[in-house]
Amino acid sequence: MPTKSKNPHLPFGDRQTAPWYGKNILSVKQFSRDDLEYIFSVAHEMRTMVERVGTFDLMKGKILANLFYEPSTRTSSSFMAAMQRLGGAVIPISEVKFSSVAKGESLPDTVRTLGCYADVIVLRHPEVGSAALAARHAGKPVINAGDGVGEHPTQALLDTFTIREEMGRLDNLTVTMLGDLKYGRTVHSLARLLTQFDGIKLNYVSPEILRMPRDVMDEVAGKGIPQSEPMSLEKVLPKTDVLYVTRVQKERFEDPGVYEKVKNAFVVNPKVMKAAKEKMIVLHPLPRVNEISMDFDDDPRAAYFRQMEYGLYVRMALLALVLGKA
Ligand code: CP
Repeated sequence: MPTKSKNPHLPFGDRQTAPWYGKNILSVKQFSRDDLEYIFSVAHEMRTMVERVGTFDLMKGKILANLFYEPSTRTSSSFMAAMQRLGGAVIPISEVKFSSVAKGESLPDTVRTLGCYADVIVLRHPEVGSAALAARHAGKPVINAGDGVGEHPTQALLDTFTIREEMGRLDNLTVTMLGDLKYGRTVHSLARLLTQFDGIKLNYVSPEILRMPRDVMDEVAGKGIPQSEPMSLEKVLPKTDVLYVTRVQKERFEDPGVYEKVKNAFVVNPKVMKAAKEKMIVLHPLPRVNEISMDFDDDPRAAYFRQMEYGLYVRMALLALVLGKA
């Protein structure tokens, strides 16, 4: 279960006994399989409500502080849309250079400030462990929206929700992760989260210098999940149920020359995908650069744009849960 935020002021009218009330969401390690089933059932309800009425007043009077120290399109805007569709309001801080961060204010002081104005804080920050640090000082629940090369737990939740909705199951799947597995925090979180399910097999295909970190592989191995690191995609593609493609993260490379050498190591296109099953899906956390060609976008197996939409419902569910409204 998630860690509890140190919020001494519990507003009247919230379901303060709800198991998720006031809790931080920092890592996928916090979730049991029952937790996941519950989140997905709430996300499913959110989808139904959005399709039926668009916006509703579940979170009227609640405020989200959306604090992003790194660029984002999907995570930032889907959290804002989630709060607004639930009838709440948002303090958007996407350009920290226009906040007091530019004057040297520390992360603890910044989140302590936002905790005075908002009911929940969503944080993206370039340093591993930043969300946990913020949670110790905010006085309100903190949701990790990506901490450097660490974790991106809400992305992994929406990825698994997407798999469940698209494939109809989360057990007995072969998942192949492709691309930048070293710096791609989404794959670190997803590999860990998939250990909750039965009959999962994980393949990691990447350039040699961008392999899945040993600590993640050790954790996954400790849960009894078979993993392999094949040299080529062709070897595992025919048996893959979910191909999870990631961008080579240029911004994490110290030497631009090294990035240039690996940036196009793997490209998914219609020709490559001829070897894949008819019933499988291709996911990508996005943004993409060249790693999936645009002429694959119309293939029914290309689920990455639907994946973005599922993210809205999962983030609506998470906000409702930590604010005691679900
Ligand atoms: N998937 C994801 O985190 O996208 P953004 O960087 O656009 O938020």
